[in-house]
Amino acid sequence: MKINENIFKEQRIIQGLMRINNLSVDELYNLIKFDIENGINYFDLADFYSNGECERKFGEVLKLHPELRDKMIIQTKCGILNDHEGNKYFDLSYEHIVDSVKNSLKRMNLDSIDYLLFHRPDIFMDANEVARAMSYLKGEGFVKHFGVSNFPHEMVKFMKDETNIPIEINQLQLGLGHLDLIREVLNCNMNSEEGTEHTGELFFYMKRYNIVLQCWSPFQHGFMEGSIFNNPKFKELNETLEEFATKYNTSKCAIATCFLLMLSKTTQVITGSTNIKNIKECLDGKNIKLEKWEWYKLYRSTGNFLP
Ligand SMILES: NC(=O)c1ccc[n+]([C@@H]2O[C@H](COP(=O)([O-])OP(=O)(O)OC[C@H]3O[C@@H](n4cnc5c(N)ncnc54)[C@H](OP(=O)(O)O)[C@@H]3O)[C@@H](O)[C@H]2O)c1
Repeated sequence: MKINENIFKEQRIIQGLMRINNLSVDELYNLIKFDIENGINYFDLADFYSNGECERKFGEVLKLHPELRDKMIIQTKCGILNDHEGNKYFDLSYEHIVDSVKNSLKRMNLDSIDYLLFHRPDIFMDANEVARAMSYLKGEGFVKHFGVSNFPHEMVKFMKDETNIPIEINQLQLGLGHLDLIREVLNCNMNSEEGTEHTGELFFYMKRYNIVLQCWSPFQHGFMEGSIFNNPKFKELNETLEEFATKYNTSKCAIATCFLLMLSKTTQVITGSTNIKNIKECLDGKNIKLEKWEWYKLYRSTGNFLP
């Protein structure tokens, strides 16, 4: 079955491939096979993940099993680099975007990718220059669709207004251990730190213009500081997850996934797990619908205040 790319918005769970560098090619093939058999057809990569090693390994699987390509939506990112001292910096110049995509295609043994995301905003970014790179990549058939990641409201708006190719996605960190995107929305007009708008506008801007919210590191807290599950720092949250997991006869991960999927019909959750049991639990989140008071109880259980 050849996948119809229009179904990408129906994909609620995405397989993140940031942590596959230690898998053998066979193990990665088995992971991808499991995903596809269980309805996960969308795969998220970046040129930056393990310095291109994740894309390279993914490419090896595709070389051995070319029949998989037609069943996949493949997304990669560009814009984060390491300098000669091994420290990060950002570059969204025309030259870097085009070179990066050509190198990603080579590593993955592909002629085209379905989605390219600009990984993080580059402070020197010129929207016209990015638009020129987008037109070139689309015109040559190298990239079908575009999106951004970790972009603030004004920059998404700027990109949307300045480019005639749609920005369809913003991939952001969001999960019960990292609720910044929605916390300000729920604390509007309060005389508190949470009430000072930083990202609140972004959430509704994306909803209004149907820009898909892709949640990265959905089960981590902080900036990749570890899982929320069974973590003593999140005692109350784990008790509430357990309460609803018992009620719905499911796992804590399924409840945490459902919490995110309820935000909109197009919200997507990127699981980075390579453990089949954990991925299955995440998939189960698609089949639950929490009651509204339960959603808010989970929110409060993270220690966040509701006015
Ligand atoms: N755009 C960006 O800037 C950006 C940044 C970072 C990541 N990403 C994307 O987001 C993807 C996911 O990121 P991630 O791997 O950090 O996040 P994650 O999927 O939230 O995984 C975080 C932790 O949660 C654990 N976990 C997951 N499911 C579990 C379950 N059912 N039960 C118990 N523990 C569970 C994982 O353990 P196990 O691994 O043992 O299952 C892992 O330790 C990446 O692969 C990448 O594609 C994007």
